[in-house]
Amino acid sequence: MFEKQHRTLGEFIIANQNSFQYTSGELSRLLNGIRLAAKVVNHEVNKAGLVDIIGAAGETNIQGENQQKLDVLANEKFIQTLKNREIVCGIASEEEDDFISINSFDKQHQNKYVVLIDPLDGSSNIDVNVSVGTIFSIYRRVTPVGTPVTLEDFLQPGKNQIAAGYIIYGTSTMLVYTTGDGVNGFTLNPALGTFYLSHPDMQFPETGKIYSVNEGNYIHFPQGVKDYIKYCQMEEGDRPYTSRYIGSLVSDFHRNMIKGGIYMYPKSSKAQNGKLRLLYECNPMAFLAEQANGKASDGFQRIMDIQPTELHQRVPFFCGSKKMVEKAEEFMAKP
Ligand code: AHG
Ligand code: MN
Ligand code: MN
Repeated sequence: MFEKQHRTLGEFIIANQNSFQYTSGELSRLLNGIRLAAKVVNHEVNKAGLVDIIGAAGETNIQGENQQKLDVLANEKFIQTLKNREIVCGIASEEEDDFISINSFDKQHQNKYVVLIDPLDGSSNIDVNVSVGTIFSIYRRVTPVGTPVTLEDFLQPGKNQIAAGYIIYGTSTMLVYTTGDGVNGFTLNPALGTFYLSHPDMQFPETGKIYSVNEGNYIHFPQGVKDYIKYCQMEEGDRPYTSRYIGSLVSDFHRNMIKGGIYMYPKSSKAQNGKLRLLYECNPMAFLAEQANGKASDGFQRIMDIQPTELHQRVPFFCGSKKMVEKAEEFMAKP
């Protein structure tokens, strides 16, 4: 068993610290903070059926979505862990209306990094024991160190990301991340509470045979998306493709990265900008995709080039194997 237990996430973070441009150990401490928060949330998610944490919390978030109890819990655990360790200057979360500025008496806004999180992604899947995840994105602040963070520090295009990743609470729990030098995946050994490098240098296959989209929205999709879906279903060459949609971005992305595929959440006549949020869902996934030889676009342009204007901004999302995303873009470009 566990032949792959040669290298732990903690060791990996330290070993890679020297490859960062401005190495002060701060990013390593931050990644270690996320590693710890991941274990805490994993522990909560795994108890879901046993204690009273399933179901709605009775509140809606700023986006009008029902918050699940675990959404709230995961949010609290991540924020608490990062706050207590005093390793970031600000946090933005799907579950918080506004960003949080973090300061402590002795640090006086000295930290350099801001973190954006989707604490629990795919949360409608919790009640039915289907995989959920956490997504995170890290930027260097743009305002001067020593002052409180401002909205500007969070509204940066995805190409400025320093690191990004996700935790998937699946049949096993994995933490997958990039610091701009490829993508590596670590699997949690629950008995030891340690993440081990199990998926070094993850890569999207150049093309694939899986398409992931909520086809229930088909009639509301733009013509280009409808045509691309029909193309996927056509009997020709390596098609028809297989349709796989979990409804949990992290899980759909993870599967497609390993097997080859495309994930789409297009705009529709009901939702002009689609559903997914640019800052803490699409940008981190786009960074991972590009680092893993994949591609992420809004159907027309690179996700990571978009200049955000709002914290909870939504954007159409096409992400996965390069050739498949390019083909979808071809269909989108047709008049
Ligand atoms: P969240 O649980 O953080 O609100 O995100 C859910 C997202 C994403 O994970 C998933 O792919 C998508 O919503 C599913 O939406 P539909 O149910 O509309 O297909
Ligand atoms: Mn989400
Ligand atoms: Mn969420």
